[in-house]
Amino acid sequence: MAKKQEIAFVCTDCGADYTRWLGQCSVCKEWNTVKEVRLGRNRGGRTVGYSGKRSTVQLLSEVDRSQAERLSTGITEFDRVLGQGIVCGSMVLIGGAPGAGKSTLLLQALAKSAAGGIPVLYVSGEESPQQIAERADRLELPADNIKMLAETSVEEICKVMDQEKPQVVVIDSIQVVHSRASESAPGSISQVRESAATLTRYAKETNTSIFMVGHVTKDQSLAGPMTLSHIVDAQVVLSSTDDARYRILRADKNRFGSVGELGFFAMTDRGLKEVKNPSAMFLSRSGTPASGSAVTVVWEGTRPLLVEIQALVTESQSGNPRRLAVGMDQNRIAMLLAVLAKHGGLATASDEVYVNVVGGIRVYETSSDLAAMVGIVSSLQDRVIPHDSLFFGEIGLSGEIRPVANGEARLKEAAKHGFRRAVIPRANAPQRPVKGLEIVAVASLVEALEVLY
Ligand code: TYD
Ligand code: MG
Repeated sequence: MAKKQEIAFVCTDCGADYTRWLGQCSVCKEWNTVKEVRLGRNRGGRTVGYSGKRSTVQLLSEVDRSQAERLSTGITEFDRVLGQGIVCGSMVLIGGAPGAGKSTLLLQALAKSAAGGIPVLYVSGEESPQQIAERADRLELPADNIKMLAETSVEEICKVMDQEKPQVVVIDSIQVVHSRASESAPGSISQVRESAATLTRYAKETNTSIFMVGHVTKDQSLAGPMTLSHIVDAQVVLSSTDDARYRILRADKNRFGSVGELGFFAMTDRGLKEVKNPSAMFLSRSGTPASGSAVTVVWEGTRPLLVEIQALVTESQSGNPRRLAVGMDQNRIAMLLAVLAKHGGLATASDEVYVNVVGGIRVYETSSDLAAMVGIVSSLQDRVIPHDSLFFGEIGLSGEIRPVANGEARLKEAAKHGFRRAVIPRANAPQRPVKGLEIVAVASLVEALEVLY
């Protein structure tokens, strides 16, 4: 009976598991990718717990909390996304397309940590030590305290970590690391999964913080996402914006901080530089004002962010006009158009409607409803929205403007960036005036349209 479970069949492309061999993987439809995998002999012992110690029951109130110690990466934006620094003993997966700057960011963070006296180790399986040394030189990073290891065997990596006892380790990348416990091809999902699990156990046992680099595949998912996401404590993704100079680091999962937290960087010839004022990044407010553009303030993780929403409404030449939204939910736009027709008396049924969020950022919040609607109306009527006006609020199906969270902080951010007028939900009207900002509180779509120009 036990013997039967020692063999599994795994697709080397997508990582799907089968109990028997198949010629074609029924998940990813690839041929000849399902391979027999002998499961590691030590697998049974693993159920004991991370440290291999016998499991004991304890009171929640008596659990040792001292482990939640955090180290700074020396990069404020990076710390923020991680949840105020690196948690000791945590496993963080950092994803991104090739060239996004994952290696650059981690090398910069390690150099800063090392300069602060924290023992660090950079394990590279992709680039040679020379290449990394050259990068450090180009970035003018102090290289004396960064220990380097070119290795892809997870057992060897653990052995070296045992000797060197680093506090922060970078594995660049997890996709090239393999484990003896897994007999499938290096690079396959089961190899990646086995290696990641081993490293995670190591991190927990020794209270070492480990960053694993993971490449993002064509369809924008981390390779083997289902197999790695649940293993790691935090999953952050570094991506480019429309403006190729900028990079956004986003926490998709974080056991120690807020999900959706964003960090902003600019890629310069001296590596990644923090963007201290990200709101400025997303406002393309130069040149002559054009119709269809409205600014809103969204809440990203733990802070407000100003973004510009552009809309274009043109008469359709076909009987089936297009509705396209980039950076926003398309269905939400369709709903807003229906509300606009019903309660605002402005029909767009025979028009094509395009909505775009400037800067390549994605807005998930319904607080951007009002700005999107205002942009659409502005384009429809070809009238420019004053540049110093800002809009936020959720729009309900009966044309009411509903309040959003953190109203005051949003208004302060707007005032900080020189906005003079804010059209907001009545329920969000602040108790005290915000300096330099005229507040126009509206309760319905009709009221909002009245105050528009
Ligand atoms: P890299 O960190 O190697 O990306 P990843 O590890 O995510 O694949 O970054 C590579 C890109 O960054 C490459 O296109 C060159 C660019 N870059 C700069 O513009 N400036 C720099 O100082 C460095 C080191 C890289
Ligand atoms: Mg790299």
